[in-house]
Amino acid sequence: MDRFLSPQPTPEEVSLEKSLRPERLEDYIGQESVKENLRVSIEAAIARGEALDHVLLYGPPGLGKTSLAWVISREMGVGIRTTSGPVLERTGDLAAILTGLRDGDILFIDEIHRLNPSVEEMLYPAMEEFKLDIIVGQGPGARTLRLDVPRFTLIGATTRLGLLTSPLRNRFGVVLRLDFYKVEELKAIVLRSARILGVEVDPKGAAEIARRARGTPRIANRLLKRVRDYAQARADGVITLKVARAALELLEIDEAGFDALDRKFLLTIIQKFSGGPVGIDTLAASLGEERHTLEEVYEPFLIQEGYIQRTPRGRMATERAYRHFGLPLPPHVCQRGLPLEE
Ligand SMILES: Nc1ncnc2c1ncn2[C@@H]1O[C@H](COP(=O)(O)OP(=O)(O)O)[C@@H](O)[C@H]1O
Ligand SMILES: [Mg+2]
Repeated sequence: MDRFLSPQPTPEEVSLEKSLRPERLEDYIGQESVKENLRVSIEAAIARGEALDHVLLYGPPGLGKTSLAWVISREMGVGIRTTSGPVLERTGDLAAILTGLRDGDILFIDEIHRLNPSVEEMLYPAMEEFKLDIIVGQGPGARTLRLDVPRFTLIGATTRLGLLTSPLRNRFGVVLRLDFYKVEELKAIVLRSARILGVEVDPKGAAEIARRARGTPRIANRLLKRVRDYAQARADGVITLKVARAALELLEIDEAGFDALDRKFLLTIIQKFSGGPVGIDTLAASLGEERHTLEEVYEPFLIQEGYIQRTPRGRMATERAYRHFGLPLPPHVCQRGLPLEE
């Protein structure tokens, strides 16, 4: 699927992303309050000679959660082991990982909202008391063995904070939300990535890519790569404003940074459902997309930028959405007040 917003890096992107990943907090652009919170916790943990508190990072895909986990491990000077909710199928998988850690090490669990409940339950005493309860034997003769595990730091990442159970959420000492990036910050990311990749880009070209990157570093880097290809094939290799615009137009990324599905999403609400409200399941069926893709990948940016509103009765297109397409505002959109957030 050649989609710009696809939440996961493609296989070829994985190694690219590694090379572009910031190493230290000072290379990590933007997210100032998140970084400040982390600096304080990291300094305090180092001063006490203890492991860092468990950290939960949440926010839409591509904003830098995985990168931040690696940055934290470097800042703490500790090892990091990475896995994800769906991969940790059995309690034995978790037990093997935990017992293999050293004191202070980080265990990074991506998509932590997708943990198997029995694995999650085993995690509670591990996070709280650094103990592992293992059941030995079966039937009436079964008993529980308590094992010590190293004093590790769990870093969990999720795109869906609301799907975390409260016992799990409550066991994180530090909970941080990553926000969409400002254009200036994305421009700095594009310039940094261009330097690493050896691509020549002028500041206006970088700004144009930044403006259309939907507030998301992963998308900014993806666009940079595609625009570079265009610059090499159709220009002299330098990404100027003109080259960036022509390349982005060819990729059908519009001025707001929308791709084809964003536009279809908005136009479906406007044209098929008279601007809404329309339920998310109805929309998903109408677009032939998964509900969770719409909720996790598409909606957050459209909501944050004020193109749609979530109401208890469903999604509604806003005035801004009609204007984006140059469509006349129907009277009911002009008149309606601000609905309550879901
Ligand atoms: N704050 C940042 N500064 C510089 N580059 C970043 C930043 N955040 C993310 N990136 C870039 O975006 C890519 C995707 O980030 P990643 O950490 O994988 O996002 P997530 O885990 O939230 O989906 C990374 O490879 C990195 O190059
Ligand atoms: Mg990630």
